[in-house]
Amino acid sequence: MIRSRIAGVGACVPPREISNEDLEQMMDTEADWILQRSGIRKRYWAEHDDTTSVSKLALPAVEEALKAAGVGKQELDLIIFATVTPDALFPGAGCYLQAHMGLPGIPALDIRQTCTGFLYALSIADAYIRAGIHRTVLVVGAEMQSKCLDVSTRGRDMTVLFGDGAGACIVQRTEVQDASPATSRESFLFSTHLHADGSHAKDLIWASPGTANRIWNPPELVSEENSFPQMRGRHVFTHAVKRMPEAALEALEANGVGIESVDLFVLHQANKRINDKFSQALGIAEEKVFSTIEDFGNTTAATIPLGLAEAVRRGRLVPGMLVLSAAFGGGFTWGSALYRW
Ligand code: UT7
Repeated sequence: MIRSRIAGVGACVPPREISNEDLEQMMDTEADWILQRSGIRKRYWAEHDDTTSVSKLALPAVEEALKAAGVGKQELDLIIFATVTPDALFPGAGCYLQAHMGLPGIPALDIRQTCTGFLYALSIADAYIRAGIHRTVLVVGAEMQSKCLDVSTRGRDMTVLFGDGAGACIVQRTEVQDASPATSRESFLFSTHLHADGSHAKDLIWASPGTANRIWNPPELVSEENSFPQMRGRHVFTHAVKRMPEAALEALEANGVGIESVDLFVLHQANKRINDKFSQALGIAEEKVFSTIEDFGNTTAATIPLGLAEAVRRGRLVPGMLVLSAAFGGGFTWGSALYRW
């Protein structure tokens, strides 16, 4: 049976470390507030000049993923790039990355499903592979959000949470003997589950520039406030703590797998308190939930592949483990994936 598997993962962050104390110098905030309310201690921000871009940031992560998978870049037959902070409004970051990699001709697709972007991208890679259209797909989740955030006190509710980073996975065709999730020990992606509810679009939004915006044209009327991402934090929090456990249970039920069988939960990292509530709701032991938020903040589409790469580096994720990922973000969008590593 044809399935897909994550054959290799890589991740990187830019070199500039930004502590909570550094943020105190930029805006009216307190290091301790950030730590208590989100669990974040530091994050990494790119240099804010024209030498950096999200597609360039992704390159070392891609190289690491190719090496880990033992795959040459010429074997790639599709690039899927999840990001909300692309190099330009168009063309997509996937096209830029493809050019950096010197792979003219292979298709490149951008996904903009915010914090759920990586799961959407993984799902598309899996569908193409199962359909026999592609064999070896590069799936990237990467963000360079620090260039887009309001670093004045006005933007403090969002700005303190977000970091830059990139994660990449090589998703490859595999032939499995036993495709039953309950009995198989082979490494493959069991299923993905995706959702969206666009009636909440304005609760987590980067509105301008955008065609729904009267103020895009003439440009003098672009309001500075609209030009930065905005969020109704508490509202987003309330939905995240409901939807992420729901999506996790959906994945388990679809595969007839009990929650106790999952070895590691590699979740989106928006707020440590969201993931603590996820664990409490499902009765999961803390040591099964891998956390990177304290070191990297919320890297939006990058959190899950970055988490996978970190879990491998720290020896927390080894072949044969059953992994569950879930995410929630702007759109609203949410989803899950269940896979054996
Ligand atoms: O990746 C997916 C999308 N994002 C999320 O899932 C994030 C979801 N939301 C959250 O994580 C939390 O709602 C936040 C961390 C954003 C905020 O925590 P909160 O406990 O919900 O705080 P709040 O927004 O209700 O604000 C509490 C107070 C306010 O002051 P008053 O009105 O009580 O006087 C804010 O003005 O904290 C104030 N505040 C800050 N204070 C210091 C907001 N941001 C800051 C800040 N530093 N950076």
